[in-house]
Formats: sequence, C-alpha cells, structure tokens
Amino acid sequence: MTAIPLQPPRRLVEFTLDGEPVRVPEGGTVLDACRAAGKDVPTLCEGDTLKPKNACRVCVVEVEGARTLAPACSRRAEPGMEVRTDTERTRHSRRLVLELLASSVDLSTTPRVAAWLKEYEAEPDRFGPDAARLGESPRVDNDLYVRDYDKCILCYKCVDACGEQWQNSFAISVVGRGFDARIAVEHDAPLTDSACVYCGNCVEVCPTGALSFKSEFDMRAAGTWDEAAQTRTTTVCAYCGVGCNLTLHVQDNEIVKVTSPHDSPVTHGNLCIKGRFGYQHVQNRD
Ligand code: SF4
Ligand code: SF4
Ligand code: FES
Repeated sequence: MTAIPLQPPRRLVEFTLDGEPVRVPEGGTVLDACRAAGKDVPTLCEGDTLKPKNACRVCVVEVEGARTLAPACSRRAEPGMEVRTDTERTRHSRRLVLELLASSVDLSTTPRVAAWLKEYEAEPDRFGPDAARLGESPRVDNDLYVRDYDKCILCYKCVDACGEQWQNSFAISVVGRGFDARIAVEHDAPLTDSACVYCGNCVEVCPTGALSFKSEFDMRAAGTWDEAAQTRTTTVCAYCGVGCNLTLHVQDNEIVKVTSPHDSPVTHGNLCIKGRFGYQHVQNRD
C-alpha cells in the first residue's frame, strides 16, 4: 500500500478493475486497488515507504483510451477509468521485463520472482551466455552489511532511502550512464571510507538481496540460512527514548537480522545503527 499520512477522511474514487467496480481513497494508486482486490500484480521497484520510481515497469496495466501501458504502482486512480491487469499486452510486457532482468542480474534471492518467471513463461536463457552481466564479486568491506551488485536491478530504492526521502546521508548514488550505470558510494570507495552511517535503511528497502546483513550473507554462503525456520518478534528498541519498533528475526535461538515494521507512523521501517545492527549484545555470552 502507498503510505497514507494521518489526515481527515478522504473521498473514495470509484473505477473499474478487470470489469469489476472498485474504490480506493483519493490519492491511492491502481496498485492499491489491485492489492485490495487480491490481484497478484508483480512489483520490484515499488516500495511501500518510498515514492514510486517507475524504474522496472514490471507492474504495467492497460488503461482504456491510453496509448501506452501504465505502471500500476504510480498511476493514481481516477473516477470512471477502466483498467485491465491481465491482457495479452500486459503479459507480454511483464514477460519481457522479467526476461531482460533475469538474464542480466542474479535474482536468486529476490522473493517471488521464480513464481513470476513461471507465471509469465519468461525465458531469460534465450539471450544466451553472452547476455551482459556485471560479473562482480560481493563487496564485503565491513561487519554489518554486504553489497552484491550482481543482484542489483538499479531500482534506486536504496538511493532514495539514503537520500532525501529518509536518511539524508546521501552516501549512495547512481554513477555511470547506460550500460555502465551502477550503484556506488562516493568515488566507488569501500563503505568504510564513505559517508554511510550504517543505518541499514537501504538494506531494508532493497528488493533483491543486493544489500544484505553480513549475518545473512554468511549463513547463505554456509547453506544454513532458513527463513522457514525463523520466527519474527516485534519489540521496542531499548537504546534510547524514541522507542522505535524492531522486528527480530531469530533462527536457532540467535538473532540473525533486524527489520522494522513499514506501517509504523513514526519510523516507517527506518532505524539507526544501534537498533538495526546493535543486537549482538543480546546474545554475546562471552
Ligand atoms: S546504511 Fe544508511 S547511510 Fe549507509 S548507505 Fe545505507 S541508507 Fe545510506
Ligand atoms: S542495491 Fe538494491 S535497492 Fe539499491 S538499486 Fe540495487 S536492487 Fe535497488
Ligand atoms: S513496480 Fe511499478 S514500475 Fe517498478
């Protein structure tokens, strides 16, 4: 859902979605209506705590009377519009986007993408072994989180979370143009030489696992990462009086990573270094 600030009740906008009447609060998107109706429209660059970026175009829908397909994640609902989510055109477009991404990026840790590749009969292998890939090793230059840009789809979510939308650190940005475009810190230096304050808010929004906790990275490498065996407990950070919500991901009685609820009206999924990465003291038995 698009983050909706607290405010007086809003007018409802009514339109037609796949032939059925639907209503969303004024300012809501077509994607909001799709999700409320239980429709599985794929999304990658959309983030429920960020402004739409329209980078991936995997969420496209057909709007009656429009020449081009519209990204559902950013298209505002208008009264009387007629939207179709599952047509030959939308399926063809989504298939192509998924094929291009999966042929050039390692999507092995992107949630749900395997199901979408199947659903849209995408064949990323048809571009052959010469499809452009970054082919870079993961950057492990600190103890807190890892950057594996071979998994990066250039969705810009980390840039927005680090920059003016949340953290205002501006430690990361897009460098290069065209095929050379990539995410980097200033001068493409190690993270430890950058302006990063290790809040991990970029890790929170990354949709592919290109940014991940060092603990998760190590456990995946060792073959011990098992989300099905993990519990999630939401609690309150005790480091200061702000009282941010933390969700502790626990496997085998150890905290393996910390996230934060996106629907918190105070933090919107964001934390500081202490809440995000300062959990070792809980289980440090030395
Ligand atoms: S950890 Fe925080 S400061 Fe560092 S790059 Fe990510 S969002 Fe920016
Ligand atoms: S590192 Fe993650 S959040 Fe940042 S652009 Fe790449 S895929 Fe998106
Ligand atoms: S999810 Fe809508 S453009 Fe990426």
